[in-house]
Amino acid sequence: MSQKSGIKVFAPATVANVAVGFDILGFAIDKPGDEIVVRFADRKGLTITEITGAKGKLPYDVYKNTASFSAQKFLEHIGEGDRGIEMEVHKKMPFSSGLGSSAASAVAGVFAVNALLGSPYTKKELLHFAVLGEELADGAYHADNVAPSLFGGITFIRNNRDLDVHRIPVPNGLYATVLYPHVAIKTADARAVLSDTTSLKKHIEQNGNLGGLIIGLFNSDFELIKRSLSDVIVEPQRKQLIPGFDKVKTAALQAGVLGCSISGAGPSIFALSNNSLIAENAGEAMQKVFTDLKIESQLFVSPINKEGAIRY
Ligand code: HSE
Repeated sequence: MSQKSGIKVFAPATVANVAVGFDILGFAIDKPGDEIVVRFADRKGLTITEITGAKGKLPYDVYKNTASFSAQKFLEHIGEGDRGIEMEVHKKMPFSSGLGSSAASAVAGVFAVNALLGSPYTKKELLHFAVLGEELADGAYHADNVAPSLFGGITFIRNNRDLDVHRIPVPNGLYATVLYPHVAIKTADARAVLSDTTSLKKHIEQNGNLGGLIIGLFNSDFELIKRSLSDVIVEPQRKQLIPGFDKVKTAALQAGVLGCSISGAGPSIFALSNNSLIAENAGEAMQKVFTDLKIESQLFVSPINKEGAIRY
């Protein structure tokens, strides 16, 4: 088997929660993301032959690696569990960053193997297997990163258990600024700080903002989007995990963004803008706060990714 054979796929990073949709909203950005190469092999079963960009942190065991796990579960489901396939995993995005790193791997793994087999399953049919990969990584069956990474766009999950997932239209000009400060936050820790209960008052306010955001996105109503991008439940409980969060948010708002909050479980911080110039200016201002705090950070400015996982 030639080393050059096979196919390569990409699955993008994602911003989960989008301020007001904890565990139920997410969107994809163009970069960064994960790449996976797969090819048929003579040896029986799925094997990982190469992992790059992971600094030795990812396992080669097919049942322990997020990318191969989603693919293996899919192969078993279609009766091809013994099919000889080699997989290369190229991590092109940071771990524990709040950018959906494990979700991108899980999506890329199953999407790649499906493509290699001639795409017998649609993306919608692959979603469950990608979520199994995400569940392996963080112990919870949730699709708020997986769905946007697979489908692209902005996705709304009415119910994670049944994967009742819907796409929300992306208004023209909507741009994301995503800033990853190099501080470590484990998703489990960021979930542990959250209270199980909330007041009825906050529930009503958050529901109003969630509805407002969705209607604003459907109607390209940037003023409504701006009024709605305010998380009164999760952000106040998590922001103390991110040094300088309030200052970064203030810098973003002063630069004219529509809203700014924590990306997924953090530590990344995202902002949404109605044009690329504001998104770039905000990114510079936000990054300066971390530079002043002597915290290294990586900046990504991107339109909302519309395609999700692609073969390329
Ligand atoms: N919705 C999740 C959270 C995303 O905020 O904890 C991280 O997996």
